[in-house]
Amino acid sequence: MNDIARAVELLKAGELVGIPTETVYGLGADAANPAAVAKIFTAKGRPADHPLIVHIPGANHLECWAVDIPDLAYELAEDFWPGPLTLILKRAPGVPDAVTGGQDTVGLRVPGHPVALELLREFAATGGSGGIAAPSANRFGRISPTTADHVREELGDAVSLVLDGGPCRVGIESTILDLSTGTPVLLRPGHITPAAIQAACGALPAAPTAAAPRASGTLEAHYAPATPMRRVEGSRLPELLDAMQHSGRRCGVLAHSQPPQSGMPHVWKMLPAEPVAYAHDLYAALRELDHAGVDLIVVEAIPDSPAWQAVGDRLRRALAGAGA
Ligand code: TXA
Ligand code: MG
Repeated sequence: MNDIARAVELLKAGELVGIPTETVYGLGADAANPAAVAKIFTAKGRPADHPLIVHIPGANHLECWAVDIPDLAYELAEDFWPGPLTLILKRAPGVPDAVTGGQDTVGLRVPGHPVALELLREFAATGGSGGIAAPSANRFGRISPTTADHVREELGDAVSLVLDGGPCRVGIESTILDLSTGTPVLLRPGHITPAAIQAACGALPAAPTAAAPRASGTLEAHYAPATPMRRVEGSRLPELLDAMQHSGRRCGVLAHSQPPQSGMPHVWKMLPAEPVAYAHDLYAALRELDHAGVDLIVVEAIPDSPAWQAVGDRLRRALAGAGA
């Protein structure tokens, strides 16, 4: 039996499977099976009222999960699916509360990774609901996995099988757009930018207004290493690194500029000075620095421009949760 067939068997048996997507790896369960979905929360240590994204094989499955679907949802699906865009829609009756966290909406996405798509198609072909509920396959609040090894490191035996689809192409979680209220609202920035959404359908999404955390990916502290973190402007870096060296402490620097001098005791992790490539490498770099045995992870401040919005969002939440 090949790995996809094994994964389908496990999903049907109510077990968890690690799934590669183009954004990050997911921890998948049969979305129509509340007992299976409950295992996700246990494995992640995630609060039960946090809703999950349901992954579907194509936009033709939207009506299985959502009602009152606006035309805009179909237009966006046409332009961006399969791909890193999650749409929040009014839930259909019968969607388990375990998936929606008891809300009247459901998050849906067709992932743009060949392994995930093949799994979803094969799973749907067995006659089930064809939906796989999957949050990122990390422990709650921690760094999302972008390789199969990261998933095993995060979750160990809690997951029966991890499908290895190689390193994730995008590297940060999908853009989440709420279409359930009449006005499109951007709940989580991602690879698909507000400008791309506007170019596709003419509507520029609004920023979220409610303070309530509807999405754990929108909590203040998330995506965080265990090592303390600090953000520093590039121009102030040499001074901070000198001071740390003098007090006998080592830093891991998440940088997009060249190191100021050689021979420092610090670990310099160089990322590309371009937001899409930076996002691709971000989580693996954070994970590496978190394991480097340094006293502090220093993030060189990134540009404050729309192109860097999604990276800035992940870094801000990592900074808020680090060292916990
Ligand atoms: O790229 C991704 O979206 C990855 C891959 C695996 O697909 N998944 C992911 O899942 O990031 P997770 O659970 O780590 O983040 C999904 C976010 C959560 O913050 C969740 O609260 C939000 O989506 N979400 C899901 N359903 C929602 C709903 N009905 N209303 C508001 N937010 C929702
Ligand atoms: Mg997550």
